[in-house]
This record gives sequence, structure tokens and C-alpha cells, in this order.
Amino acid sequence: MRGEILSLLREGGGFVSGEEISQRFAVSRTAIWKHMRELKELGYEIEAHPRRGYRLLRAPDRLLPDEVRHGLQTKWLGKRVEYIPVTESTNTVAKKLAAAGCESGTIVLSEEQSGGKGRLTRSWFSPPGQGLWLSIVLRPPMYPQEAPKFTLLAAVAAAEAIRVVTGVQVGIKWPNDILLQGRKAVGILTEMNAEMDGINYIVVGMGINVNIPQTNFPQELQEIATSLQMETGQPVNRLLLLQRLLLEFEALYEQALREGFAPILDRWRGWSVTLGQLVDVIGPDRRFSGQARDIDPDGALLVDADGKIERVLAGDVSIRPRT
Ligand code: BTN
Repeated sequence: MRGEILSLLREGGGFVSGEEISQRFAVSRTAIWKHMRELKELGYEIEAHPRRGYRLLRAPDRLLPDEVRHGLQTKWLGKRVEYIPVTESTNTVAKKLAAAGCESGTIVLSEEQSGGKGRLTRSWFSPPGQGLWLSIVLRPPMYPQEAPKFTLLAAVAAAEAIRVVTGVQVGIKWPNDILLQGRKAVGILTEMNAEMDGINYIVVGMGINVNIPQTNFPQELQEIATSLQMETGQPVNRLLLLQRLLLEFEALYEQALREGFAPILDRWRGWSVTLGQLVDVIGPDRRFSGQARDIDPDGALLVDADGKIERVLAGDVSIRPRT
């Protein structure tokens, strides 16, 4: 009901009378007043005029499900939005929902994570209201070996959404870091639950540093992290960015189901700042250096180490600065 009242206020643009609202939804004036109070508590600015009715002045800068769905152009992705203002990690919440049987395409959003998780058991800085901290639950009908490629797909979706919404120049560092001017603005953590012969669910967790001012980053991130606002010089609309990200993601996901991952990997190559560079690889069991040549059909990085092509499927890759 609250969402419907909100839509009516949006459609109307100007004032909508209490009488119209009460007739449309068959509710009393008191009930309307209560809904308006709830909306104001959520941060909506609503003007109430004794004769003319109610007018929506401004929606809050929060990732409320009604706001996310309003103007969202996807077919299935993000139709269910779980919004938790503060949580430890959206990936943890998403895994619980997935284990309980939620639909593919469900997303979990929070304003702030108290224990945001990064790759390789690192943590992820997730301050309130300044980023997109989101997890997507997917149930692709595929073998578990395919899972790492969803991480590459997510990186392509994020790169394209950021370019469309902000116009800033981004690059992808293998496998899935999005860099702006060499500093990280986006990280992706994919987790999976599978049997040998099929995936039960995948959770793609994405962290995008949207409006974090430089001084907010902790000391250890000052030199290596950035945000979209720092690069554009102005605040970026988180809702528009999220909606575009979901749209790009859905299109790429459907393409992967239809045609396989080859076209997605090609797009990834186009965004890559790793290929052609000298890189240092720290794998689970070894370290080496070489020139990053390509990715193979599994998404593994192919590194030419003294003439021998090494295949990197997991680990940390850093790009040597050009001298
Ligand atoms: C990385 O190390 O680069 C991956 C970072 C992934 C962060 C996102 S934020 C939303 C989701 N929830 C988490 O706890 N982590 C991911």
C-alpha cells in the first residue's frame, strides 16, 4: 500500500488530494495520514496542505526497495529487494536467503556493512550511505566450473554501468577489480553452493565506492582506493547507478545462458588493464612474474613467465608500474 501511495504521488507530480487517495485505495483519511507519517520517517519529504492534499518534494538518498524498483527496467533481476540498513555482510544474508529457497534474481542491499568481506579473506570497507553494497542471488543451470566467469561478467556489468552513469574512464584488473586512475573503486566477491553436477546457487557480492570522500578511507586504503565521487568531483546518484548495473547485469547473464561466456569474455578483454602488462602473481601455492597475455575460455589469466605460459585461476595479481 505504501508503495502504491508513493507511485500515485510520483505520477501526480503536484498535489494529490486526500480524497483521491482514500477513494483509489479504499482507505480512511486516518490510514493515509499514518502512511504519510511512515514515509516521512523513512526520509521522504512530503508537503501536506489542508485543502490541496499531499505533494512529494524529495525522496531520501537511501536504497529503499520502492526507490530501487521505481524506474528499474529489468525483467527479473531485482524484482525482490531485501533492504537491511545495517548488516554484517550482504553476502551472508544472501546466502541464507538462497539456502532457504529464494528466487534467482533476488538482491540484498545495505547502507552499511559492519563486517564487509573481500576476496582472499580480506575485509571490505563499507561506510554508511556512501556506496553500493549489494549481493545478487543467481541459480544458473550450469556446472560449478562455470562459476568464476560470473565474477568476470559482474565486472563487465559494473564497468559499463559506471561509464554510462558517470562517464569516467574505468579499467578492469584481473579478475574483477575496477580501477579508476589505477586505484580500486569496485570489488566483487562470488560465493557458491554446488554439487558436483550442478550449481545450487551463486551469490555475486559487489562493493562500489560511490560517494566516499578521500579523507574517509582508512589510512591503509588511502593510496590504493578511490570512489566515483573522487574521480568525477561530484556526488553520483546511487540509485541510478544501481538500476543501470542491474540492467547491464541481466542482459549479460541472459547472453551467457544463450550463447555461453565467449562474448562476455571478449567484452572483458576490451575493459582489461591487465592484458599486455608485466604482472606479479601471488597464487595459493606459488609466486612468479611475467607478462599477462590473455584470458582462456575459463576466465583464467595466461601469463608468459620466461616463455612458459602459466595459467592463473585464483590469487592476487598486481600490475607493475611502467618505468
Ligand atoms: C574484493 O576483495 O575485491 C571483493 C569485495 C566485495 C565487497 C562486496 S560489498 C557487498 C558484498 N558483501 C560483502 O561482504 N562483500 C561483497
